[in-house]
Amino acid sequence: MNTPIIIALDFSKPELALELVEQLGSCRVKIGKQLFTRSGPALVEKLVARGFEVFLDLKYHDIPNTVARACSIAADLGVWMVNVHALGGRDMLLAAREAVDKYSVRPLLIAVSILTSLEQNDLAAVGLQGTIEDNVLRLAHLANDCGLDGMVCSPLEIVMLRNTFGKDFKLVTPGIRPVTVTDDQKRTMTPAQALQHGANYLVIGRPITTASNPLQALLAIETSIANFG
Ligand code: C5P
Repeated sequence: MNTPIIIALDFSKPELALELVEQLGSCRVKIGKQLFTRSGPALVEKLVARGFEVFLDLKYHDIPNTVARACSIAADLGVWMVNVHALGGRDMLLAAREAVDKYSVRPLLIAVSILTSLEQNDLAAVGLQGTIEDNVLRLAHLANDCGLDGMVCSPLEIVMLRNTFGKDFKLVTPGIRPVTVTDDQKRTMTPAQALQHGANYLVIGRPITTASNPLQALLAIETSIANFG
């Protein structure tokens, strides 16, 4: 599967997620806290068994031993990508990496830096100094040093991270909007712009999941990025 599109299955019921993926056919999907809390690993296993590449977006952030064990279980489930918070620190990142390295076919291990919902004032309130970009870059260096495969980043950080870490560092980007809309995502780009800036994977939820015809919405996005394949 070589599409850069990862469809965010942000549903409260597994039936809705399954109904959508049946319509879309072969694709990469993301299961986050909402759907996982409802449906647990059974749905992950079901989607993996049906041939979908699953990004398990649970953003692990805990002591190294706990995160390492959770990452091993994610690898056992057969997920294609899993993520951890870079703010969990060096030992936690190294433990996560060591855990997935035990698998001959292992999931991509991706770090989350500063959530895109946080603004400058929020950083100060949790004791982080410097700009959002400073913090993202510092955490990306840490993740890269610890052997993680890449980062989740906002579209606005793609160029900085691509220029700093080179072509093999995977950049996974939410905040993708094919057309300008007003919702909770503030720092957005179109799929083509994000790929042009150097993103590897585009996490796209509502532009596809809430479209009146999700397959048509996906196909239109695929057409818009056809030149970046
Ligand atoms: O619907 P939408 O396209 O905004 O979905 C984006 C997805 O990416 C959601 O599942 C959201 O939780 C996730 N995400 C994000 N920002 C981050 C990390 C993950 O929007 N920094």
